[in-house]
Amino acid sequence: MKKILKCYVYLLIIILVGCHAETKKETNKTTIEYTFEAEIDSLIDLMTLEEKIGQMNQYNGFWDATGPVPKSDELAALKYEHLKKGLVGSMLNIKGVKQVKALQKIAVEETRLGIPLIFGFDVIHGYKTIGPIPLAEAASWDLEVIKKAAQNAAEETAASGINWTFAPMVDISRDARWGRVMEGAGEDPYLGSKIGVARVKGFQGDDLASPKTIAACAKHFAAYGFAEAGRDYNTADIGTSTLYNVVFPPFKAVTEAGVRTFMNSFNLLNDIPATGNEFLQRGVLKKEWNFNGFIVSDWGSIAEMIPHGYAKDIKHAAELAANAGSDMDMESSAYVAELANLVKEGKVDEKLIDDAAKRILGVKFELGLFDDPYRYCNEENEKNIVGKKEFHEDALDIAKKSIVLLKNENNLLPLQKEKQKIAVIGALANDKTSPLGSWRLAGDDGTAVSVLEGLQQYKENTLTYAKGADVVTQDSKVDFVFELKLNERDTSGFSEAVKVAKASDVVIMVLGEHGYQSGEARSRINIDLPGVQQDLLEAIYKVNKNIVLVLTNGRPLAITWADKHIPAIVEVWQLGVQNGNAIAQVLYGDYNPSGKLPMTFPRSVGQIPIYYNYKNTGRPYGENSDVVFWSHYSDESNRPLYPFGHGLSYTTFSYKNLKINTLAERKIIVSLDVTNTGTVKGKEVSQLYIQDKVASLARPVRELKGFEMVELESKETKTIEFTLTEKELGFYTNKGEFVIEPGEFNVFVGGSSNTTLSGEFILE
Ligand code: NOJ
Repeated sequence: MKKILKCYVYLLIIILVGCHAETKKETNKTTIEYTFEAEIDSLIDLMTLEEKIGQMNQYNGFWDATGPVPKSDELAALKYEHLKKGLVGSMLNIKGVKQVKALQKIAVEETRLGIPLIFGFDVIHGYKTIGPIPLAEAASWDLEVIKKAAQNAAEETAASGINWTFAPMVDISRDARWGRVMEGAGEDPYLGSKIGVARVKGFQGDDLASPKTIAACAKHFAAYGFAEAGRDYNTADIGTSTLYNVVFPPFKAVTEAGVRTFMNSFNLLNDIPATGNEFLQRGVLKKEWNFNGFIVSDWGSIAEMIPHGYAKDIKHAAELAANAGSDMDMESSAYVAELANLVKEGKVDEKLIDDAAKRILGVKFELGLFDDPYRYCNEENEKNIVGKKEFHEDALDIAKKSIVLLKNENNLLPLQKEKQKIAVIGALANDKTSPLGSWRLAGDDGTAVSVLEGLQQYKENTLTYAKGADVVTQDSKVDFVFELKLNERDTSGFSEAVKVAKASDVVIMVLGEHGYQSGEARSRINIDLPGVQQDLLEAIYKVNKNIVLVLTNGRPLAITWADKHIPAIVEVWQLGVQNGNAIAQVLYGDYNPSGKLPMTFPRSVGQIPIYYNYKNTGRPYGENSDVVFWSHYSDESNRPLYPFGHGLSYTTFSYKNLKINTLAERKIIVSLDVTNTGTVKGKEVSQLYIQDKVASLARPVRELKGFEMVELESKETKTIEFTLTEKELGFYTNKGEFVIEPGEFNVFVGGSSNTTLSGEFILE
């Protein structure tokens, strides 16, 4: 009987998929339109309430990591039972074709309706071929390479049997203490939107059913990046204007770009957990933005509404989450256990269950899983595609483009290629794992090219390495114990490092954070150089001032002393498998750096939150700043160490001839000439900022509204043009309404957010 029913389901689906184009319009019964409306409706009609709820249930892998066998504990046994009964719609953290296939086989062959599973995985910056962390990628400001990186990651992931990534994270954050800034595109909603869209397009391509694409997931909806005091999972308390003008834009942009799934977040937003937040999920996302994909909860976030003090027990949590619009339950087991009863008791309308199941099935149809549930499960492909050479070439390309030259006094960089005695100092210089950064679940430890290995390729110089000091003292695999060991202060390696530095022409110091010091649950109250690295830097500086500081980290660091004393500073983030190659090419000038900061670097942790698009106080810097009563600190400047958008090159650029043309329909054309005034070819990210001078809501002092990458030969000039439309000139009110208000605007154009070249226009 089971077999006959399943054959019937598949036959029906094949027929419907075949005449899909014709049936679409006639069957548009719901307010949300699905691409596979008829197919979904027919399937839903066949499903029991429990089976529909099953689609809403996602389990973490309960499979033995070493082979396709379920683990033997009780929970694994329960999950396995659920899988066989069709009570699981999705699995996460299953790695590789062999395991995916084994589980899919159970879903397809052993359940009553044979509905395939969708497999999710955190492919955050590459699957096996790990690229630069997302914050680093964002520093490239290069949307094409960012898209390409996502495309490659998708191809590699799909070849491993997985069809859904929990990326991109499009959370805006202004707080470098929050470890997850490494996973996003930084502090700016405009840049964040562009990058989010590039990543979604890269992952999803034009055809979700292609074996080279996977579904993307915009996360974490919403305001997760505004965790109080930068402590992960903490409360976010923000006003409507910030929510609409800063937090929402990247989410809205990726929705418009067709992202297929969303993930909600762990935090309270204005005292309501995001997971149980109807305003966010049903109101804004599904209704206002007309999103027709599905929302997955974050890991256990439905159950976490109990400690939040919002749900009294797991049943109540399931009720709140389902009613609020969370479609899929990641690892709380709340839906599978409680939803059917809640429907029977009239606490959750079955229509909402249908809606959630339809959304999930819709994405499965789009992925082509009903045509071929094993379409991502080809061992041959897996062997040929995972880790292929082209992915490494592209990873090197984006790694180079992600590097930001923060400071270069007296042109210490690029390094001379011969006859130099170079000291390389710092544990991170010789580290083949930290450069992979956090969130690299399928990546392999030790697979990054270290900085030392990269530098060793330039053979005409003499290199001497000394570790100097560890960053943190434990094995990287035991990454949970950082906090306990951070206070150990082992300086026994200093004297050797000092000796090596003394005998060298140039010292390259590779300092910063261990690969797991940023990422989820890695918040820090100090964002200076961890451990004894600052002391090491100062000890070396005493004997040799020719220092190039190579900073490797997953978040902005407060390196105010270094900025004052060290002549050359290069921000290399964590660049993935090609790390050392990219860094060496930049240090030796074989690649001229062009990266720009996507996040402000503070002078001190006490300035946080610090961001370029702040609003003026009633007592800003100005005439009265020589007396005490203006908005400032008594012990530190208000200015950042390095502003958003900052980044140098081995050449220099000048900006001139700013012209502003106001055209009909509120179109503003801004043009200007960019000249390469230095001696070598270089690339520059020209940035345009506006300021709406007077508005019904105070507007930021500057807002990024355009950027353009120009490549110029030495002494070459190019004219570039930006177009501003209502979309860039308007803003959201405290009622969440988009308005465009006439009035005066300032325009600023240049190579950083603190550029001084400005003009103005009046918007009619
Ligand atoms: C929790 C994280 O917040 C989320 O971003 C991630 O996708 C899930 N865990 C699954 O690993």
